[in-house]
Amino acid sequence: MEPASVRKHSLLSMIARNGGHGEHSPYFDGWKAYDRNPFHPTQNPDGVIQMGLAENQLSFDLIEEWIKNNPTASICTPDGVGKFKDVAIFQDYHGLPEFRQAIAKFMGRVRRGKVTFDPDRIVMSGGATGASETLIFCLADPGDAFLVPSPYYPAFDRDLRWRTGVRLIPFACDSTNNFQVTLAQMESAYAKAIEANINVKGVILTNPSNPLGINLSKETLTSLLSFTFEKNLHMVCDEIYSATVFKSPAFTSIAEVMQETECNPDLVHIIYSLSKDMGLPGFRVGIIYSYNDQVVNCARKMSSFGLVSSQSQHLLASMLSDEVFIEKFLEENSRRLGKRHSRVVEGLKQEGINCLEGNAGLFLWMDLRHLLKEPTPDAEMELWRVIIKDVKLNVSPGSSFHCPEPGFFRVCFANMDDHTVEVALQRIREFVSRGNKNGDDKKHWRKRDLRLSFTSRKCDESLISPRQIMSPHSPVPQSPLVRART
Ligand SMILES: Cc1ncc(COP(=O)(O)O)c(C=O)c1O
Repeated sequence: MEPASVRKHSLLSMIARNGGHGEHSPYFDGWKAYDRNPFHPTQNPDGVIQMGLAENQLSFDLIEEWIKNNPTASICTPDGVGKFKDVAIFQDYHGLPEFRQAIAKFMGRVRRGKVTFDPDRIVMSGGATGASETLIFCLADPGDAFLVPSPYYPAFDRDLRWRTGVRLIPFACDSTNNFQVTLAQMESAYAKAIEANINVKGVILTNPSNPLGINLSKETLTSLLSFTFEKNLHMVCDEIYSATVFKSPAFTSIAEVMQETECNPDLVHIIYSLSKDMGLPGFRVGIIYSYNDQVVNCARKMSSFGLVSSQSQHLLASMLSDEVFIEKFLEENSRRLGKRHSRVVEGLKQEGINCLEGNAGLFLWMDLRHLLKEPTPDAEMELWRVIIKDVKLNVSPGSSFHCPEPGFFRVCFANMDDHTVEVALQRIREFVSRGNKNGDDKKHWRKRDLRLSFTSRKCDESLISPRQIMSPHSPVPQSPLVRART
């Protein structure tokens, strides 16, 4: 706690000053490196390739085609402008009924019709980012805690904690069982927290997982749900990658497990978004789906801080209601993700690099433990600096996901075209063969000039992007700190 005198003379609030945004992380440093020198196939072929961005850009052509074929869905066409006035006027925070209906149906479709969603429980927010913060505001007070299996999505530290004052308690999953979440780990984390007098309000799961690219089995979900029921804890499931599953096992939603497991529905909440499944992060469509009426009411009131614009709702209501299109989109999108995933996994395998066997998501979990000087977080950072600076790939180190075991890196594969993937694989090939030429010393890169130093969380100036030289190809329009959230 700051001394009262500091607080009194400070121009900004404690929250504004407390660094809770989490920008001092290698996850964000990698973005700066990319932003400083972004790859472009012709204009900057030696630039950094962005593999730290969990965006799904593989099926834009399908959406573009749909937009062209459906001019009445947009108010910006001669055919659709007739709806302009309806869309332009002030909306209440319930959102357009047709949008809520369409998204509820879409969520059910993504879960293969095994569950249905009630449009009256759909609460909108600005992306899953806004949705999860709103939900946490509804469920917990400053100082309360949620258990989260790690490795987990780094921006949870910002989204769930910064403004709410809530704590996250990671419980570690590791390579000994392929990073599966177990009930035993959760029980032990819970017991320790209780012993430390921490008020645990719930558990937060991401299913399928970012960064692991795997989904939770029905058995695991059932055991975790039973545990939270027994302890009267909230179960929050972030299911924003539910339609990115490209091979078996199929995705199981907590909504499905609830139907078959003894539980208290008032304690179960789903976070959803169209950012990953439809590849529309710019639309900022986030959903809170709670089975608790009080949470629905409160979240709806709070949603006025981050509504989805009626223009987006109008377009999406129409697109999501087109069942023929949605069917085709989901199938083709998952086929393309699977194909891309296989290509990257194969390419890495040829260089002796293994990945956790994944079946979902927009990324894979790459195992570079054999390239670490020693199994420590510092060695992981050292290797990561080389990958950014010499290999010029922005992959994200496991430590930024609170991974307990050094040597793993998240590699995003769906935010680029085929050519860029091949360039990235070629760079890895050269990197590995440079190591092989050095005979026994496969970790030859250790001897190179590692000028970059992010230790003590100060970035090397050469990696920080001065706004004025930012490439027009950069996906980071302002600061990556503002933008980075994937
Ligand atoms: C697990 C998870 N939750 C939430 C988000 C934020 O999504 P949105 O763009 O909808 O705010 C992301 C983005 O990467 C994510 O991976």
